[in-house]
Amino acid sequence: MRKKIVAGNWKMNGTLAETQKLTSEIVHMHKDEVRNGAEVILIPPFINISEVKHLVKGSAVKTGAQNCHQLESGAYTGEISAAILASFGVEYVIIGHSERRQYFGETNALLAEKTNAVLANSLVPIYCCGETLEERNANRHFEVIATQISEGLYHLDAATIARTVIAYEPVWAIGTGVTASSAQAQDIHAFIRKSLADKYGKEVADGISILYGGSVKPNNAAELFSQPDIDGGLIGGAALKSREFVDIIKAF
Ligand code: PGA
Repeated sequence: MRKKIVAGNWKMNGTLAETQKLTSEIVHMHKDEVRNGAEVILIPPFINISEVKHLVKGSAVKTGAQNCHQLESGAYTGEISAAILASFGVEYVIIGHSERRQYFGETNALLAEKTNAVLANSLVPIYCCGETLEERNANRHFEVIATQISEGLYHLDAATIARTVIAYEPVWAIGTGVTASSAQAQDIHAFIRKSLADKYGKEVADGISILYGGSVKPNNAAELFSQPDIDGGLIGGAALKSREFVDIIKAF
């Protein structure tokens, strides 16, 4: 059975006080209301990780980071390594979010190195892929996603890729209020799983959780999550509101 996962990517949001309030609300609601066994991950900006870690203690809620550097340590001012994240008890790291690809020039080759760093520190990468609107309109979405996945992940052996999570996030659906239809999302998720199966075999492909991201809300989560190859969500805007986020977790 694949893990069902709901991850809240808080992006560059949350003062210390806002983070404390949001985290406490989610932890309490999660404890009182959620019984479906889904893995819940809170992904704050780096500096808030330690506080979130402290506040989720004793609950089943996990923490993640939004990025990391590809090297272990060294003279890279302003950067954070996977080794540092691991030392804080972080469990997951988002790799290759489209905002990192778009605004920070992250390439598939660099993301392959970051994925290696995350795995070498026994953390789980949430490797993101997704096409722009232009690419979809040009009917290039399958090709774009195949390249992102193969260049970023297919250097891994079967036992190692089995420890990863993949997120499909169409760029045109992120923060826009436009969601991919459940059929559009399922199509891509099935395509990714088939690609994994072709490369690593069906058993490995069937074990990897593939999350959908892009304007997931309480009112569309259930339909998305009911698709056979959608194993949960990477949530942006709605993850900043405790009620909405917990309602999304309950949508399985
Ligand atoms: P959104 O963001 O839910 O605000 O569309 C998703 C993401 O970027 O992970």
